[in-house]
Amino acid sequence: KKKLLVDVDCGVDDAQAIMLALAAPGVQILGITCVHGNTNVENVCKNVLRVLQACNKLEIPVFKGAAKPILGNSISAGHFHGQDGLGDAPDPNAPGLELVQEEAAVSAMIRIVNENPGEVSLVATAPLTNLALAVRMDPSLPGKLRGLYIMGGNTESRGNTTVCGEFNFAADPEAAYIVLNDYGCPTYLACWEFTCCSMLPWEFCDAWLAQDTDKARFMERIFRHSIQASQTERFQKECVAGSGFISCDSYAMAAAVDDSFILESEEHPVSVELTGTHTRGMMIVDKVGLLEKARKVSIMQKVDMEKFRQMMMAALK
Ligand code: BDR
Ligand code: CA
Repeated sequence: KKKLLVDVDCGVDDAQAIMLALAAPGVQILGITCVHGNTNVENVCKNVLRVLQACNKLEIPVFKGAAKPILGNSISAGHFHGQDGLGDAPDPNAPGLELVQEEAAVSAMIRIVNENPGEVSLVATAPLTNLALAVRMDPSLPGKLRGLYIMGGNTESRGNTTVCGEFNFAADPEAAYIVLNDYGCPTYLACWEFTCCSMLPWEFCDAWLAQDTDKARFMERIFRHSIQASQTERFQKECVAGSGFISCDSYAMAAAVDDSFILESEEHPVSVELTGTHTRGMMIVDKVGLLEKARKVSIMQKVDMEKFRQMMMAALK
């Protein structure tokens, strides 16, 4: 089985990504680590438990991680995901935080990867605070990963949070810098502009949600808020092309689940801007090689959208 460790700030697309992985054949999720981001880390833990409950998978361990970025304060994305991160559609029967493991997320990451050297694919769909702290504590950690799949960063300085910053990188630029600069392992990036160009048309979303299953009904409730947010003028300006839903985090997950999902990628060294009036948190792509960095990452350009739709459909079956 393919072993995954998943690091989330469980908003709506994180939930979709988790459900995609849970439905994928031959995949085992060893744990889900939670971090600040779309909402506060307590809500993130609650949201992950709700997703696991909806999928009858509460046996998967959930760990609480960093409540704030390495520097400064957390930002959130309540305008898009709802203040609670899952569309402000509360469930009175939601599992309580007592189900969260006592072990801290960063310790769990280090332990799980060391228990399975060379076997774990880490999927990070959130600010990279947990992972940055983990690699600082155990520099051997990236070398023991099978692969690292990140949703985050941007390739054309198009921001969705600050003028030039994509949310996950802008929410903790130092963490993104540490993860992309200091340590090496095969790394795959689903950047903001790429996800915008790979959106799911609304007709697909309608058919997706119309499936007669409890999972589809769960998704329909938590999804309403971001469907509306996706149709606002602000959002239309944020994204590159067309109209439809961008399940950003699901692209990173699909790549981790299926090795043949990525059809085209560009390999470049990248970095993250830490200072600058407008550019803090922006990803830098070194196409010429002037940074003289040995490590390159794979930046997704084209993926198998037919496979993607199939994986998404299966997620709600
Ligand atoms: C990223 O930011 C979050 O709001 C989403 O969950 C995704 O991880 C997109 O920029
Ligand atoms: Ca996310």
